[in-house]
Amino acid sequence: MASRKLSHSVIALLVICLSSVPSAGRFAAASSEGADTVLKLTALRVEYKENPLGIDAREPRLSWQIQTNGRGVMQSAYHVRVARSERDLHEGRNLVWDSGRISSDESAHCPYKGSPLQSGQRYYWQVRVWDANGAASEWSDTAHWEMGLLNAADWQASWIEPDLSEDPKKSNAAPMLRREFQINGVVERARAYVTSHGLYEVHLNGQRVGDQLFTPGWTSYKKRLQYQTYDVTNLIKSGANAIGVTLGDGWYRGFIGFGGQRNFYGEHAALLLQIKVTYKGGREEIIGTDAKWKAATGPILMSEIYHGETYDARLEKPGWTNAGFADGQWSGIRVASYPKDNLIAPAGPAVRRIEELKPIKVFKTPAGETVADMGQNMVGWVRLKVQGAAGTTVTLRHAEVLDKAGDFYTANLRAAKETVQYTLKSGGLETYEPHFTFQGFRYVSVAGYPGEVTPESITGIVIHSDMTRTSEFETSSQPINQLQHNIIWGQKGNFLDVPTDCPQRDERLGWTGDAQVFSRTAAFNMDVAGFFTKWLKDVAADQFENGSVPHVVPNVLGTRPTGQPGGSAAWADSAVIIPWNMYLTYGDKRVLEEQYDSMARWVEYERARAGDDYIWSGDFHFGDWLAFATNRADYPGATTSKDLIATAFFAHSTDLLQRAAQVLGKRNDAERYAELLAKIKSAFCREFVTETGRVGEATQTAYALALQFDLLPESLRAVAAKRLANEVRTRGHLTTGFVGTPYLCHVLSRYGYLDEAYLLLNRDQYPSWLYPIKQGATTIWERWDGQKPDGTFQDKSMNSFNHYAYGAVGDWMYRVMAGLEIDEAAPGYKHILVQPQPGGGFTRVKVSHQTPYGKASSAWEIKDGEFVLAVEIPPNARATVRLPKAQLANVTESNQALSNGNGITSARQEGYAVIVEVRIHGTSN
Ligand code: BGC
Repeated sequence: MASRKLSHSVIALLVICLSSVPSAGRFAAASSEGADTVLKLTALRVEYKENPLGIDAREPRLSWQIQTNGRGVMQSAYHVRVARSERDLHEGRNLVWDSGRISSDESAHCPYKGSPLQSGQRYYWQVRVWDANGAASEWSDTAHWEMGLLNAADWQASWIEPDLSEDPKKSNAAPMLRREFQINGVVERARAYVTSHGLYEVHLNGQRVGDQLFTPGWTSYKKRLQYQTYDVTNLIKSGANAIGVTLGDGWYRGFIGFGGQRNFYGEHAALLLQIKVTYKGGREEIIGTDAKWKAATGPILMSEIYHGETYDARLEKPGWTNAGFADGQWSGIRVASYPKDNLIAPAGPAVRRIEELKPIKVFKTPAGETVADMGQNMVGWVRLKVQGAAGTTVTLRHAEVLDKAGDFYTANLRAAKETVQYTLKSGGLETYEPHFTFQGFRYVSVAGYPGEVTPESITGIVIHSDMTRTSEFETSSQPINQLQHNIIWGQKGNFLDVPTDCPQRDERLGWTGDAQVFSRTAAFNMDVAGFFTKWLKDVAADQFENGSVPHVVPNVLGTRPTGQPGGSAAWADSAVIIPWNMYLTYGDKRVLEEQYDSMARWVEYERARAGDDYIWSGDFHFGDWLAFATNRADYPGATTSKDLIATAFFAHSTDLLQRAAQVLGKRNDAERYAELLAKIKSAFCREFVTETGRVGEATQTAYALALQFDLLPESLRAVAAKRLANEVRTRGHLTTGFVGTPYLCHVLSRYGYLDEAYLLLNRDQYPSWLYPIKQGATTIWERWDGQKPDGTFQDKSMNSFNHYAYGAVGDWMYRVMAGLEIDEAAPGYKHILVQPQPGGGFTRVKVSHQTPYGKASSAWEIKDGEFVLAVEIPPNARATVRLPKAQLANVTESNQALSNGNGITSARQEGYAVIVEVRIHGTSN
């Protein structure tokens, strides 16, 4: 048994011929060999995390994946057991939860239902499963999770603030706080729980605690402030210990938002930290922030999210985080009385250093600057290696692009300085990285460097939220592969604890519209479940009293720029659309449950603003932001009215809310919102649609919204789609902005205009997705024409070269081109629809995605007139495969005629397509 290879997934190879070419027959799938099914459980997760430390979900959800030698394996039941120690777990004693055998085919998000979980307690767990034929797995390997501090009263430490003289109007030198303590006894385990106002970095006995960056993260601080939990057992020693914490201004009190705003959340940096030490024998001791701490400043003279860092290494205080350091000259601290009932454990991933890049060249610009080219527009910072006389200052400036002349270009950074200054201390080799700032850049200008700058001197440190990559996507077209690369880098650059619009200018805010537009693409590329679970709670926390949703979350703009509270169509609708996208992608009902109130409040706000005629008119909206030619007299038709957009999104959010209500069993709400939806739709048609299927100003965005959101009566859909297709063909390009772009190709392919969708995708003249690629882009641009063909730039006041919004076309590439689609009736890829739509001259498209059940893939190739599709479906999921332009008789699977059995339950002709059900012994059909 041990020698048998366990494949994670079922492989089916389907071969069909295109049009009239007769197909060859092949069939070469893994077979179950008629032997016993082997089930092995892997990828045990708790709340999406592997063995998490410090969570606060009271009913954490457990997930696992099945590996098997058989094809088409489905789980029929599971059994979970949970204990406080591994020994109890394995002996089945003192279990805090013994689920017994639960009949269920669910292996994702199975909620813990045992006795109440306790603060700081670690829990060990295992699972076993049965397949549909009654074959059982062994107990899985042991996994664990540990609870954080669940109650405000668990915090025995006090908030403290450094008692330093500071000017609140300016950037401050970063405070350093320290304290020594004694450990008397043998330590069995030690945990540190830490949060701050501002950002923090902790050292214990000279060693950095953890590898997380930008802690405690960015949330709606007054209502929700994250703390982190660290295992510090190995850092604590018996005898004298010292702990040292550096605080950065960060989002809390640094410059954030426009116009030089600072101190948005408060003027003072503060720290709350407690270490719980458990000695052998069970004695416990808590060391925390209290009146005994001392404060000073040191080498970090300035560190700001936007502006960079000024660091004078001569001011370092060697040994300050070790015991025995003389802190007699240090100032004291003030004990503060900030609340603790807003403290929460992080639901999302931590920000970390993820990868390193070396410059592809170092060169002199025409203006004479020494510049390193990282070869990639990236987000993070530079690790500098330098040797020179103490007191020498090296200045690093950062830029995304070079101008037409090849000179360093920073005008598009607006007020953000993105400047790092390092002053040397020693004469020896010095290595330095900044602390509480990040830069968006491809180019680094280096001034004051002693000696020659070489690629050795500079390393690009790429940082972002540590999301697992869940996809691969590749085609026969190099430019499209580069587009996918740029989409991924847009995500890397802008998922830094919150989803931001851009990572370089004085903005970097959680713009709701951008996140909405990109969320589904993002969820395909990486595991963003925890990331959005966290951010959506801030959406709800920052929602205005009247239900309106801010333009940015966390909301540091208040009611700017309009003077009214948020409420822009397509931006504020993120409160509904993103939870729905997370539900679809991960099958996560809890996110719907927890966001439901917020979703409904937003729809009620829309209803109130729209009033009795269900047309939402007159309010402020961003509209189809940055659409092609909005200002051009020669394309007046490219402007879509804001009333139309607002009413369309009102309908769409109502529709999704109605569906969410159904999922959650809220029947009255589901009915109520279905009725509301019908009214909005008929109002929309009355107001914006002619009897001949013309929608609004007949723009691409108007058609895209009306068709994507199913706002038109059946009788008008085909004709409206035809009008859209004509419009696309006539122009030969897209005219859409942030709002219409994500839907354009979807609507075209859905209504049979695949060629037009591919035309848009493959176009490489402005405006198009590939135009920036022709210009050498390595990320997605904010504007279709950030840099013009003649090398000049768009308006410097708004011209980011790393804005993920237009990367939303990824969603079409994965779901339609490659054809890996979700069935809304069985979300989270429980039922996978494989339905590629080849075209556009592509000969090969390959996609894979790590679903909650394991890897699914769809890879097609056109070779010698044959269409070959390789499909991979994970165990415990099923699939329906749709082969376009196929004749049943010509379809083969792994070299044999299609036949039922070994995972295939049926195959049938449906018009010009062949439908193959890939599934799974033991179920009802
Ligand atoms: C941001 C956008 C955002 C917009 C609002 C801009 O400054 O960068 O991406 O959505 O404002 O329209």
